[in-house]
Amino acid sequence: MIEVELKTRVVEPVECKTQILAVGAFSDTKKPDTLIIKLDNKLNGAIERVIELGDFKGKEGTSVVVYGDKIGAQRVLLIGLGEQNKATIDTVRKAAALAVNKAVSMKVKNVAIAIHKALGAELDVGLTAQAIAEGVYYGSFRYDEYITSNDDRRADTLVVEVIDNDAKKIGLMEKGLLKGAIIGKAQSYARAIANRPGNVINPPALAAEAVKLAKSTSGLKCTVFDEKQMTKMGMGGILAVGSGSKTPPRFIAVKYTPKGNAAKLPTVALVGKAITFDSGGISIKPAQNMEQMKLDKSGGIAVLATAKAAAELKLPVNLYAIVPSAENMPSGTSYRPGDIVTTFSGKTVEVQNTDAEGRMILCDAIAYAVKQNCDVIIDIATLTGACIVALGTYMAGLMTNDEQLGKDIENAAKTSGERVWPMPCGDEYADEMKSKIADLKNIGSKWGGACTAAAFLRQFTGEKKWAHLDIAGVDCIEKPTGQAAEGASAFGVRLLTTYLMNLTEKKGRK
Ligand code: BES
Ligand code: MN
Ligand code: ZN
Repeated sequence: MIEVELKTRVVEPVECKTQILAVGAFSDTKKPDTLIIKLDNKLNGAIERVIELGDFKGKEGTSVVVYGDKIGAQRVLLIGLGEQNKATIDTVRKAAALAVNKAVSMKVKNVAIAIHKALGAELDVGLTAQAIAEGVYYGSFRYDEYITSNDDRRADTLVVEVIDNDAKKIGLMEKGLLKGAIIGKAQSYARAIANRPGNVINPPALAAEAVKLAKSTSGLKCTVFDEKQMTKMGMGGILAVGSGSKTPPRFIAVKYTPKGNAAKLPTVALVGKAITFDSGGISIKPAQNMEQMKLDKSGGIAVLATAKAAAELKLPVNLYAIVPSAENMPSGTSYRPGDIVTTFSGKTVEVQNTDAEGRMILCDAIAYAVKQNCDVIIDIATLTGACIVALGTYMAGLMTNDEQLGKDIENAAKTSGERVWPMPCGDEYADEMKSKIADLKNIGSKWGGACTAAAFLRQFTGEKKWAHLDIAGVDCIEKPTGQAAEGASAFGVRLLTTYLMNLTEKKGRK
């Protein structure tokens, strides 16, 4: 995987020696900004020709390479930013991702970014810098740890410089870049582990990764319960789902405690589904695309990566990352349709479909979170195909029992660019989850599957403020985009980290 070194340099962009100079351009500005005019003059009007020919219109997501010899850079990469008055922090993030994604594909070793120059004073400098750094990591990530052939190899390291001729501006960007790099690296960590297949990451292997993470990160502690401990504790949901697999389930809890007076600070519990492979179990899934179900651990990995980011950012919040992990397999020891399972909360659940396994492990983990002394619980899970039917692959479903918490998460979605859409999980949905022979059953009617799943989880949240993110549609980048390679998206890392940052900065509240 590519090692990214993110730096700053005070330099006149026109003179900046680099393999690629990335600059931003809007689609609707009559007069290009001074940097583009300067570059164009040195390039004898090459940029203007590209624009006049209609080869580049500044549309968001587009780019064009211009060559010339009288500037410091070997190439100029013009990046479309779309309409100026529509530009947001995510426009900047995507532009940086596109620039660096291109740079990696072109196998260069260094790239200079001056995208922020086009944005002027419109956006907060610190947030802009943070978004650039996040975009840099997002765009440069490649999952290639199992590729052994050496031909067509890309560079192992990439130096990315954020440049400006104004030393003061660079000074103002420094902090944001550091924050963005922490979040960006956490995101890449999550993508790498989520992409690993089921024969590599099984529940004990995931637990080992969490232990490793906690050991190498100051402020983190990891506790793992194995199947024997879970049996003693009565975690019937996780044990049932894990019972069909040769690799036993694990309950992983990473705790982040900030330095200083932690007792006075709020406590947030993040709960993430980590099914290391979801075959469906006895209610087995069709063969087509079943390999994608190695990504059914994405929610769990997202909360581990968020704990990593929170600790490295030294956020003043107590944080639990709770990750129930199992492999859902069919075998002679599997749980079956019809089984009645006693969960950690004491509530009994009639299993009507073994493929509705996410809620079976989450209900134990949420009930465990309720028993910890936390103020808020947010769970994140690749929970239902129904959520993909409802929202497509653009945003996650957001269900909650607390309006303000919902608003806070929507606010975090706006800055992080990881989008959410509110969905219901009220009593009409909960009624569908009542069983005739147990307290609950694990599937509802044919319709509204994302909502009935969330309503099921809501039964385990006690009096706590709780929100649920259904990321089934957004956990995976199916085809490579201009901004990123295909594979795990690490959705949730930026969203949850931003939520925590806003919470601790007392921002994001109206
Ligand atoms: N992990 C799946 C949900 C999923 C489907 C995620 C497609 C990503 C892409 C989940 O465990 C599942 O199988 N859900 C079932 C629930 C049903 C049996 C009530 C579903 O959505 O079909
Ligand atoms: Mn399933
Ligand atoms: Zn699943």
